[in-house]
Amino acid sequence: MELGRFEKDKIYNVDCLVGMKELPDNVIDLVVTSPPYDDLRSYNGYQFDFENIALELFRILKKQGVVVWVVGDKVKKGNKSLTSFRQALFFQEVGFNVHDVMIYKKKNTPFMRSNAYTNCFEFMFVFTKGKPKTFNPLKTPTVRHGMEKLVTNKKADGVNKKVLAELKKEKTRTNIWEYAVGLGGSTNDKFAFEHTAIFPEKLAYEHILSWSNKGDLVFDPMCGSGTTCKMAAMTKRHFLGMEISEKYTKIAKKRVQLVKSLLF
Ligand SMILES: C[S@@+](CC[C@H](N)C(=O)[O-])C[C@H]1O[C@@H](n2cnc3c(N)ncnc32)[C@H](O)[C@@H]1O
Repeated sequence: MELGRFEKDKIYNVDCLVGMKELPDNVIDLVVTSPPYDDLRSYNGYQFDFENIALELFRILKKQGVVVWVVGDKVKKGNKSLTSFRQALFFQEVGFNVHDVMIYKKKNTPFMRSNAYTNCFEFMFVFTKGKPKTFNPLKTPTVRHGMEKLVTNKKADGVNKKVLAELKKEKTRTNIWEYAVGLGGSTNDKFAFEHTAIFPEKLAYEHILSWSNKGDLVFDPMCGSGTTCKMAAMTKRHFLGMEISEKYTKIAKKRVQLVKSLLF
């Protein structure tokens, strides 16, 4: 009964608050999720009880586990909601470390405002329960690499000294990640767009690689069209998905089933 009534590698049509209450303490290695944005009290007719969801996430996450919380702010009557900040502060209050505040930059974005710059990003908060157990840094190629004469610090004689040293071929990426969105960007699964707010597969994939290892359990409590679960399967992690809407649950199950049949 490792996960109560739930089984690994499955997606359930359930309110995550109800579902999480049935999970034991300290069982999840990584959460990659995105909550309903800003229609705070009701979304698609469903309740979204953010505070209790955050508390439950803290309880079910393993020590040194990681939660990636992807969220953007809406503008109402010219006023940015800053829900993202409020949520981040609440996560901190309940005991999470705010390990990083990362940016998910969208290459193509349709949203325009006549009196402000076009918004092209959302936050990816990285919350941890203690120090993260896993960090597999993703790398990017450096512009200059190979052997080069590099200036060392000036010595007491005030003269710059040059020494031959090797410049590395790659370096750890920055915390701004950029993705194309929409069909062909977020995913090639056309049917997934029946869900209106999916995040890019590559975003989930890159967080899963960064903060977990093969065989770990990745959880998405509001899994929507199943992006996180699909990417967990493709990277040989176990997954657990919960989604309150029956319609979206069906889409998520179909997406995961397609890759599972290809992989195993
Ligand atoms: C922003 S979407 C997630 C999209 C997902 N990351 C994807 O790529 O498809 C948020 C999802 O949370 C679901 N949701 C809202 N409240 C929920 C709850 N209490 N329990 C489970 N799911 C919930 C919504 O139905 C919606 O599908």
